Amino acid sequence: MESFEQWHLDRALLAWQVELGVDECIVDAPVDRFALNPAPQGRRGAPASPATAVEQPRADPVALARQAAQGVETLDQLRAAIAGFEHCELKRGAQNLVFADGHPQARLMVLGEAPGRDEDKIGRPFVGRAGQLLDRMMGAIGLDRTAEVPERGVYITNVLPWRPPRNRDPEPAEIAMMLPFVERHVALVDPDVILLMGNISCQAALGKRGILKLRGQWAEAFGKPALPMTHPAYLLRQPQAKRAAWADLLEAQAKLEAGR
Ligand code: URA
Repeated sequence: MESFEQWHLDRALLAWQVELGVDECIVDAPVDRFALNPAPQGRRGAPASPATAVEQPRADPVALARQAAQGVETLDQLRAAIAGFEHCELKRGAQNLVFADGHPQARLMVLGEAPGRDEDKIGRPFVGRAGQLLDRMMGAIGLDRTAEVPERGVYITNVLPWRPPRNRDPEPAEIAMMLPFVERHVALVDPDVILLMGNISCQAALGKRGILKLRGQWAEAFGKPALPMTHPAYLLRQPQAKRAAWADLLEAQAKLEAGR
C-alpha cells in the first residue's frame, strides 16, 4: 500500500503540473519521451561528437504557414489548412480548433486575441463572459453574429485559433506563425471594417501594442480600415472604460454607414 508521504508527494507533483498549465490527461499511462528519442550514440555508446551528429535543418514555421495559407481559396479550405498546421505547439494543448463564427459576408470583422477555456471547450470564438459582452456591444450598433443577412451580421475570429495554456499571452513567435492565416482570413471575408480587440490583435495587425493609446484611432490593417478597441474582457474588469468603448463602437458604425 502507498505510504502517506507518497500520497502527498504525488499530490504535490500533480499540483505542480496544474501550475505549469496541464489541464488534461491525454493517455492513461505516463510516456517517457526521453526514452523514445535516444540521443545519437557514437562508438561504445558514447554520445556522438558534433562532427558525426547530423544536424536536421529546422523548418521555418512562418514560411510554412505562408505556404499553407497561400493556396487557400475558401473559408472551409482555410479552416482545413489551419487544422493541418502542425508547427504551433498550442495545438497540442488545445481541445478544439476555434476558427470563426458569424456571417462570412459581414461588413464588420472582429479580430480577437485567442480562445479561452469556454471557447476551447466548444470550438467557437467569444462564447464566455467576454463573448456575451461582445454580443451586447454588437447589438448596440444593430449587429448580430447570428444574423442571416450580411448587413446585420458580424464575423468573429481570433489571431490564434488555439487556446494558450492557462490563458497566458501568446508568444511573439506564435503570433508570427499564425499571421499568414489571419491575413488570408481577412482577404477571404473581405470586410469593410475590422475591429481590433485588445493588445494582441493590435500587435498582430499593426505591429504595436498600447491599446489605451491606440483605441479609437483609425489605422490600416491587412489593407482595411481598422479600429483598435479595448477588449471586452478588459471592459468586464474596468467598467469605467465602457464609455470610451461605446464611442469607438459608434465610430465603427459611422464608418459602416458612410461606406454604404
Ligand atoms: N477572448 C478572445 O480574444 N477571443 C475569444 O474567442 C474569447 C475571449
